[in-house]
Parts: sequence; C-alpha cells; structure tokens
Amino acid sequence: MSTADFLLLPLSAEEREHIATLAAHGETARSACIDALKYVQSRHGWVNDAQLAAIAALLGMSAAELDSVATFYNLIFRKPVGKHVIFLCDSVSCWIMGRERVAAQLQHRLGISPGETTQDGDYTLLPIVCLGHCDHAPAMLIDETLYGDVDAAQLDTIFGPRA
Ligand code: FES
Repeated sequence: MSTADFLLLPLSAEEREHIATLAAHGETARSACIDALKYVQSRHGWVNDAQLAAIAALLGMSAAELDSVATFYNLIFRKPVGKHVIFLCDSVSCWIMGRERVAAQLQHRLGISPGETTQDGDYTLLPIVCLGHCDHAPAMLIDETLYGDVDAAQLDTIFGPRA
C-alpha cells in the first residue's frame, strides 16, 4: 500500500467517492473543501485529524491548509460535540439585548460552560459570531434551527420546564 493510499484509509470508499464527485463538480478540487468537510461531519459528527488529512489529500491540499479552512468556519467541528450543538450569539446586538442573561440561564440549565458538552452527550454549548438575526437579539442556533428574542420562557419551550 502506498503512502497516499494509507492517508485515505480514515475515509470509507463511499466517502472517498463522494468527495471525488464534489471535487469534480467544483471550479477547482479545493473549492469543494467546505462541502467535503460538511459531508464527513454529517457522517461522523465531527472531523478528526486523520479524516481531515484524507480529505486534504483527495482535494490536492495540505492538511494545514484545510485545517485553516475548518477552524475558520464555525460550523465545522474539530473536536467531538454532543448530539445537538447550541450556538449562542456572542456579538454586539445580542450583548446589548441580554445575551449574558441567556448564557447564564443555559449554563445553569445544562450544567456546562461554553465549549463543554453535557454528561449525557446531548448538548454542546458554543459561542458564535453574529447569526444575522440581530433584529431579534438575543439569538441562538440549535443545529439548523434559528431562535430569536430568546428568553427564559423560550428556553422552557425548547428544553422543557426547569426541574
Ligand atoms: S449580534 Fe447576535 S444575531 Fe447579530
């Protein structure tokens, strides 16, 4: 087995084929890098170092180049996360409109600090820059669902009444 083949082992044959298809349809192979990262993440929950190196090899990039894309793009996880990821906006409109109050309520309810995952593995809490929902600050994204005007009552609706 060649070094190049060995590098690709962290991805299944199906995953390699899918990424090759993405690369073939882009203007350049590397233009498919975010879609490839998102695809691998959709199958594994996050993208580990070996998977990232394999994706980079398929796209003709260095692992360092691809890692810089992955770490710049907030929605790619380079560490394991919970089943659901809560992104609480950390930008100015949300700060003005009570983001810290919501953060405290979330942290109290879930028993975690930003960057942590609940013990049952259900939720990871992360800060994020402006979600583009400033007119409904404070804003929060859970997986693909955007919430605005977040307050304690809405947290009760989402997570169930507090114990
Ligand atoms: S500042 Fe929070 S959504 Fe824009």
